[in-house]
Amino acid sequence: MASVAPVVDAEYLKEIEKAREDLSALIISKKCAPIMLRLAWHDAGTYDAKTKTGGPNGSIRHDSELKHGANTGLNIAIEICEEVKKKHPKITYADLYQLAGVVAVKVTGGPTIDFIPGRQDLLESDEEGRLPDGKKDLQHLKDVFYRMGLSNQDIVALSGGHTLGRAHIERSGFDGPWTKEPLKFDNSYFVELLKEDTEGLLKLPTDKALLNDSKFRDYVEQYAKDENAFFKDYAASHKKLSELGFTPK
Ligand code: HEM
Repeated sequence: MASVAPVVDAEYLKEIEKAREDLSALIISKKCAPIMLRLAWHDAGTYDAKTKTGGPNGSIRHDSELKHGANTGLNIAIEICEEVKKKHPKITYADLYQLAGVVAVKVTGGPTIDFIPGRQDLLESDEEGRLPDGKKDLQHLKDVFYRMGLSNQDIVALSGGHTLGRAHIERSGFDGPWTKEPLKFDNSYFVELLKEDTEGLLKLPTDKALLNDSKFRDYVEQYAKDENAFFKDYAASHKKLSELGFTPK
């Protein structure tokens, strides 16, 4: 499969730092951190560890992939990234989208996630059907995340990404935010998940599924109690997600 590799020299690293600043300013002014995080996750979450296909390869920019059911609405995030790409054309889309995800977490108060550039841009789309379906159960989450090479702990920590943003009925059929402050990255996703009655807040079947198995529930309880533990584990799991199929040099 054809892809384009960047030359990561001193100049490239300088552009990355400039793009980081531009993304921070744009994400703060447009209050678009949630959709930028979702973009990074949906570009990366297609990874298949067996065939070494998919992953953070920028392929979500292609119309055919953007039209996948799971990606409805992400054209908004792609367009915002395009403004930054125009100013820093050397940076690959694959790096740009992952940088946007890392910046989105940071500017909303979340942990610092280590970012190493050098991802290649795939010139074609990834196949449809690799991202999780919110209507399904824990076995489905395991099938999807194990396929990526990720663990039970990664599943729970990364589900905490739903501390940001909301569902839109016209995009996914679901509606509403998971937390009371959807522009603040904190551990409230886990706090709300453990409450019985959270009127006005969303819990997807796949969110609730994390409570059905003690191995998963233990992490939910730990993260609800200890925000530092969540931030530490989230940063590690997010870095893994952002580097699936990519070996930083
Ligand atoms: C939004 C499903 C994992 C970050 C959504 C939406 C659904 C969904 C149905 C609503 C989309 C819309 O209507 O606009 C799932 C499922 C997951 C999962 C089934 C499996 C565990 C993740 C992960 C992250 C993430 C791993 C990031 C680390 C987000 C964010 C939004 C979102 C930030 C809000 C987007 C916005 O406000 O526009 N997700 N997701 N999700 N997801 Fe997930």
